[in-house]
Amino acid sequence: MNKLIIGLALSLTISTYAYAAGDAAAGKEKSVACGACHGADGNSEVGTFPKLAGQNEKYLIKQMLAIQSDERSVPEMAGQLDGKNEQDIEDIAAYYTSKKILGGKTAADQLELGQSIYRSGIASKQVAACTACHGAKGQGLPTAGYPALSGQHAAYTEKQLKSFRTVSRTNDPNSMMRDIAARLSDVEIKAVASYIQGLY
Ligand code: HEC
Ligand code: HEC
Repeated sequence: MNKLIIGLALSLTISTYAYAAGDAAAGKEKSVACGACHGADGNSEVGTFPKLAGQNEKYLIKQMLAIQSDERSVPEMAGQLDGKNEQDIEDIAAYYTSKKILGGKTAADQLELGQSIYRSGIASKQVAACTACHGAKGQGLPTAGYPALSGQHAAYTEKQLKSFRTVSRTNDPNSMMRDIAARLSDVEIKAVASYIQGLY
């Protein structure tokens, strides 16, 4: 019994250690310039600048590397990640993950359609429910690096869904998001983005 508890405690310690490679305090220093667009605590005020607060580390690291290598094109961020090494990127991710996202609201006239798409998908168009990968409350799946969506600016979410649809953003594994976004109309994208903004 005791051996089991010690073994469990040990494996928890090891896995926590392996996961917490980034240093949030160092990341705070290294992300000062990012605050101009993303907000000092990762809660941006402009709708097309994504909130980063509370996002999982795995997803943040993946996106920073993709933006740095231009696999994901973000012209607004030209030069921002130049010279940042893996440790810098892990530290910055740890900092934003440690912050709390400040959510927004769902527009009353978008609630019904948005909620239905988010929770149930659209069976007639074979659109999977967003909950399957992003969680019932939009919290994402941190171990897999699936992003949290809840509380994100609707304008940013809309822009990403349209970028997946036009295949201008292509770094989603196995075309997961491109396949879904290809089947969504503008009206549906607007509704689900508004729903997500108020979901947290
Ligand atoms: C001049 C404004 C600006 C600055 C400064 C900036 N960013 Fe960004 N960032 C953006 C925009 C705009 C996007 C979204 C682009 C898009 O629509 O795909 C973005 C996207 C991101 C994303 C992807 C978010 C997601 O949910 O997929 C990460 C991570 C990120 N930025 C990190 C950083 C870091 C770290 C810094 C500082 C080293 C930084 N940014 C500086 C404007 C900025
Ligand atoms: C099969 C799993 C899966 C389903 C179902 C799914 N997603 Fe995603 N989604 C992902 C993954 C994985 C990513 C991250 C892609 C990457 O690594 O760049 C993502 C990324 C996103 C992003 C970009 C987040 C950001 O911060 O830039 C948005 C927005 C999004 N999904 C919305 C939705 C919506 C809305 C639905 C339902 C209509 C949905 N997703 C259904 C797996 C899924």
